[in-house]
Amino acid sequence: MIDLHSHLLPGIDDGSPDLEHSLAMARLAVADGITIQACTPHIFPGVYNNMGADIRQRVELLQLALDEASIPLHLVAGADVHITPNLVQKLHAGEALSLYDSRYVLLETPHHVLPPRTEDTFFELLNAGFVPILTHPERMSWIDRHFDLVRRLVQAGAWMQLTAGALLGNFGSKPRYWSERMLDEGMFHIVATDAHDVERRPPRLRDAFEVLCRRVGEAEALNLVSHRPYGILENQPTSAFPAPPVSSTMAAGPDDSLLRRLAALWRRT
Ligand SMILES: [Fe+2]
Repeated sequence: MIDLHSHLLPGIDDGSPDLEHSLAMARLAVADGITIQACTPHIFPGVYNNMGADIRQRVELLQLALDEASIPLHLVAGADVHITPNLVQKLHAGEALSLYDSRYVLLETPHHVLPPRTEDTFFELLNAGFVPILTHPERMSWIDRHFDLVRRLVQAGAWMQLTAGALLGNFGSKPRYWSERMLDEGMFHIVATDAHDVERRPPRLRDAFEVLCRRVGEAEALNLVSHRPYGILENQPTSAFPAPPVSSTMAAGPDDSLLRRLAALWRRT
């Protein structure tokens, strides 16, 4: 499995605090069956002032430490890019990073407020040839109010990343509800851990994979944790991938059996 969203790099955001912790996280990831791990620290001006070149260097250093400790985990560089103005220019200048220098960019919004220019930012990136991937929409407190916008983004060609722990209920019932609903509507393209530590938010995909197999079938579960992530690292276009399937109950439309029974009763009276 390939995990394209994690805060494994030590000491540069709210993820791993130090090298020992990063090594422990990496061991967990390997034990879970993860072979490739993207290091995607926050790039959030004023909060986490990380820059592309520095992230690349730190990934190389951490890879050396993993190799020295004989931990068979392959690292690639990326970033969890906060929505700010001029992202296309920042990506071209190397200030912000896409995933492994591909066209795919992890984009995060604030947790409680959707910035007014969110949709514009996604369209600017799409027009410039990038594929923005919205990180964990299922966990955003604004999703009830702005679900139509999320749908429009997907229709426009943006991708969505589900967090493994959200599907398992580790973030509460509401994120689990949106995880399941968006999966059923065929709106998620990849699943990642968004790992921050070894305990509360560990780098684990396997438990979620089991749940995914039951919910969307094994073929799509593999697409979510392995095939699409691998294609991202190969910088394949979105057209190279099968679209996430819509569950048969969703495809059939809302359950109107109650309405039909009421209508029949009405006709009889
Ligand atoms: Fe993140």
